[in-house]
Amino acid sequence: MPGTFRIEVMHGVNLDMLGKREPEHYGTLTLDELERQIEGFAAEIGVEARFFRTNFEGEYVEHLHSLRELVDAVVLNPGAWTHYSWAIHDALEVAALPAVEVHLSDVKAREPWRQVSVIEDLCVTSVIGRGIEGYRLALARLHDELAGRDA
Ligand code: DQA
Repeated sequence: MPGTFRIEVMHGVNLDMLGKREPEHYGTLTLDELERQIEGFAAEIGVEARFFRTNFEGEYVEHLHSLRELVDAVVLNPGAWTHYSWAIHDALEVAALPAVEVHLSDVKAREPWRQVSVIEDLCVTSVIGRGIEGYRLALARLHDELAGRDA
């Protein structure tokens, strides 16, 4: 659809292990299944979701560098990089796009090191501990943010 907002959904380290990994924190869906659900949320909201996943921090950084030309906004779940990667922080700053951080689990109620996010200052909001629903909330928030700018 022309004019539809394009939103990149970027999964980072260890998220390809969803479905096999601590279901009490992350649920039982695989990453493929999660992405199909996110596609459904995007269709309902009326945005286009695109996907990127990697276990390599440098690839995540380079993808962020390329985004400015490709999409209107970004949803990030960088996994454990969230808590310490200033490289990803700086790359998100380079991307200069509206961003929302999503975590499936309630990182604020887990180990102290998980309660820190080095990207939150660059995000419109952070959606934490809402499971897959968190991605719907993130897409809706970015849709409203972008629509507000267009108005
Ligand atoms: C996570 C939380 C991180 O602390 C963890 O390292 C992950 C997943 C989440 O979605 O809850 O890999 O980002």
